[in-house]
This record gives sequence, structure tokens and C-alpha cells, in this order.
Amino acid sequence: MPITTPAVFFRSLLISILICYSSFSSAQITPKIIGGKPSNLIQWPWMAGIVLKGRSSFDGIFCGASLIAKDWVLTAAHCVFDEKRSTIEIIINQADLDNNEGERLSVDRILVHPLFDTESLLNDIALVKLRTPSTSTPITVLPTYSIEDSAGQDAIALGWGTTSAVEPKYPKRLHQADLSIISNPKCLTALVDGITENMLCAGVPSAKQDTCQGDSGGPLIVFDSQTQSWRQVGITSWGDGCARKGFYGVYTRVKKYASFISDNICSANEKLTPPSLSLSLNKELFDVTAHWSTSNKASGYRLHYAPFPQAQPIYTLDVSEITLLSANSRGAFYVAMSSYKNNCISGFSNIEHFDFRQ
Ligand code: ARG
Repeated sequence: MPITTPAVFFRSLLISILICYSSFSSAQITPKIIGGKPSNLIQWPWMAGIVLKGRSSFDGIFCGASLIAKDWVLTAAHCVFDEKRSTIEIIINQADLDNNEGERLSVDRILVHPLFDTESLLNDIALVKLRTPSTSTPITVLPTYSIEDSAGQDAIALGWGTTSAVEPKYPKRLHQADLSIISNPKCLTALVDGITENMLCAGVPSAKQDTCQGDSGGPLIVFDSQTQSWRQVGITSWGDGCARKGFYGVYTRVKKYASFISDNICSANEKLTPPSLSLSLNKELFDVTAHWSTSNKASGYRLHYAPFPQAQPIYTLDVSEITLLSANSRGAFYVAMSSYKNNCISGFSNIEHFDFRQ
């Protein structure tokens, strides 16, 4: 059977290895942010907000955020670059701002990306360390070479931002917008300039749904069918007005910052060493088997591969706890592994390759 693309090649092999997961039944979704609907709180335990200390959650909230480790939240740099740790608090898992379920935690440290630019909003990403760990479940950010933030994917944006583009109208309940990821070239035709590879656009053709003022810092998520879990692909950053036809919302492309996140939130004993990889080849049968050293610190492994010899593009496949992978191929690929635990990632293993082209 001819293999068309590398992604198809490795995905089909993974499918044959993994036990069939039950298919994703559509999320229980209710309204959006603009044109959105109130959202089911239970579903998003890692949803967080930034509030002014001394104010109620409803009066004090000014940005969204997401819990990415027990004691770290992710948000937009433009939300916190001007704040002090003593002036803000973080609410977690509190979808209804009027009742005090969920948590409200103090801040230990604010870490704005060193290259954040207030004009261009480049590197609009910041980490906030909590003074005490949250009891809620963190979300995993999209790994560096994943394709799940590519054009056409369904995504959900969450926030307590205004539900009206005409006059500020702030909801008490968390809202969600059901969006689609838009390619950067398409996004550029509308927003003219200012979109870089480190940004991601999302929207709907009707422009009926969008994020707006107050949603910044909140997560844009996609459902990963392989791991049956939600992944954060974006951070609400900016737009030209809200919900305008022909325009899209702009989000920080989180996968570009996977190392920035891991390097800063993972303590010395959470740091992972890269696995060491070996390939066994059977040239007659066109079989390649990858095995790698395992670590009890890791909760899973990722396979990275790229066409040989161009080495571009690089793809990532989450193989979870599997420690050996076989494939049949008539192609040529570089292969490398990495290990992870939650949002802590190792570097690459040694890079190997095989060439079964005739
Ligand atoms: N900058 C806004 C904030 O601080 C987010 C704007 C998003 N705009 C959009 N059209 N999607 O809350």
C-alpha cells in the first residue's frame, strides 16, 4: 500500500498498536463569549481567572488564565506585565463568579516572557506561580511539533469577557466560543500585518463567535483524540474589534513556548533526561523498530520524525507509555524520541534515520 504522507504513515502504525479508544462524544456545550454560550464548569477544572485582590470575583476579574501545573498558571503577558504579585489573586475552577466554589489563591511570582513586546504583542505569554498549590487538575499544553493547531481544526475559547461588542456586558458564568483554527496566510489577508508564526488565528466565517475584551489570557483548546484529552493550543491575545466579519481573533501559539514553559515551571527533580534511542532495521521486509530507554520519572514518550534528508517538517506523535514501536515503510525518515511528565519535557534523544527507498 503506498504511503502518502509521513503523518499518515506513523499514525496508521500507531493506530494498529494502540488499544482502540472510545470515540470522542461531542462536549456538552452551552453559550459563547461573543455569540457564545455559558459553559459547563465541571468540564474545565483548569480554567482560571486573574482578579484584583480585595474585590469580589465578579468585580475584580480582568483576564483569563489556565492551570498548567499544581502551582503555575499560564496567561497573556499583556494581562500581568503591569501587575504586582500583591495586587492580584487567581481563581481556579470557579465558572460561576457569583458563588465561591473553586479556589482563590495568592500569587508568589509573575514571570513575563523576556521578549514580550507591548506594541506588537509578540511573545504575549506569562507564567504566574501560586503561593499554594491548587487541588484542581492542570491542562497539558500542545507539544512543540504537533499539528493539532493547524488550519481547520475545531477549537474552543473560554472566558468571562464581554458578551457584547457594542457595550461592555460582563457575564457571571464562564462562556465558550466554538471556533475553527485559521491559517496564518488567510488571517493575514484580514489583519494585514502583525501576525507571526508565534501567533495563531481562530474564528468562524460568520464571525458570530469570537473572544473579546476580558477574555485575554484565557485558553484556546483542542481535543486530542489520541490521548482523549484537551490540549491548550492558544492564549487569547488580541483582535481588531470583536466578532467583525472577515477578521479573526489572535492567540499566542502555545506550542512555540513549550520549552519556555517547561524550563520555568519544572523544578530540578522534575526535569527529565532525554531517552536514548536505537533503531533495528530489516531491509528485506522494510521493517523498522524503534526502542528507547525508559525513565520512571516520565509518564510518556513522544516520537518525533521528519522526512530524510530534508528534515522538514518535523512531526510529533504521542506514544504514551509504549516503549517500542514497529513500522513498515518504503520511505526515509529521521526519528528521535523525547519524554514528558505533564508539562515537563526532556530534550531530544539521539537522532537516528532509516532509508528504505529503492
Ligand atoms: N485584548 C483582549 C483582552 O485583553 C482580547 C481581545 C480578543 N479580541 C478578539 N477579537 N478576539 O481581553
